[in-house]
Amino acid sequence: MIIHHPPFIIHHFTSLGSTNDHLKEMIAAPEFTCVVADQQTAGRGRRERTWLSSPGAGLYLSILFLPKTDSLSKIPLISLLAAVAVAETLIERGVPGVDIKWPNDVLAGERKISGILAEAASAGSESLRLILGVGVNLNHQSFPPELSETATSVAIETGGRVVVEAFRDQLLEKIARWYEPWRHDKFASIINRWQQLSTYARDQQVSVTLDDEKITGVTAGLTETGALRLVVDGGEVKIILAGEVTRLRKTAE
Ligand code: BTN
Repeated sequence: MIIHHPPFIIHHFTSLGSTNDHLKEMIAAPEFTCVVADQQTAGRGRRERTWLSSPGAGLYLSILFLPKTDSLSKIPLISLLAAVAVAETLIERGVPGVDIKWPNDVLAGERKISGILAEAASAGSESLRLILGVGVNLNHQSFPPELSETATSVAIETGGRVVVEAFRDQLLEKIARWYEPWRHDKFASIINRWQQLSTYARDQQVSVTLDDEKITGVTAGLTETGALRLVVDGGEVKIILAGEVTRLRKTAE
């Protein structure tokens, strides 16, 4: 089924392996094509993890962007703007304790409620196709044991059932709203909003797991391209481009 929700064209499926993988195969799709599935049988997370995608329990959405830019440094900001859009949608729906863990895990009460997987796929040598995958836990009443300590859903946090399509449309409107400043290189508004929505942005003692090392420090905001500033022992500021952040303890209360 195809649903028009300007500027988005939504292709809805009852079941897919992964919405990101399906959209990747739609080589001729125009910008803002979306793929949504009621369930995924091979939902993927970052770092080769799987993404629990039970039928009707979550939003499983992928959006195609065809950014006309030669500045690759602005690409990671798309995931940050998506996290802002998800966080705002959750707040509007009354979810308490919404937070963003750098770069783009959306939490509620310190548990993960949404994950974002941005992947680049190229259509020939010249143009970049960016696939933004968003998973949001909506109607899960519980999680399997390995996730029960770390995951949550809108239903668990608010006690109410979510109409997945309504949540999808509300989120798409937010994504379209935040894509505008991104398109016009107005990154400060996205960074500022991200920093407002994240308790991790500043003054948090965290450890960051990089590919082959773990460093600890205190967060000191984001750079203009969305990298995390970390003040390590001795006062040196490290710029983190990718890594897994864990909060150690609150330093500013
Ligand atoms: C993460 O590890 O936090 C990212 C999770 C991303 C899950 C979404 S669900 C829709 C899209 N299709 C996938 O296979 N993954 C993303």
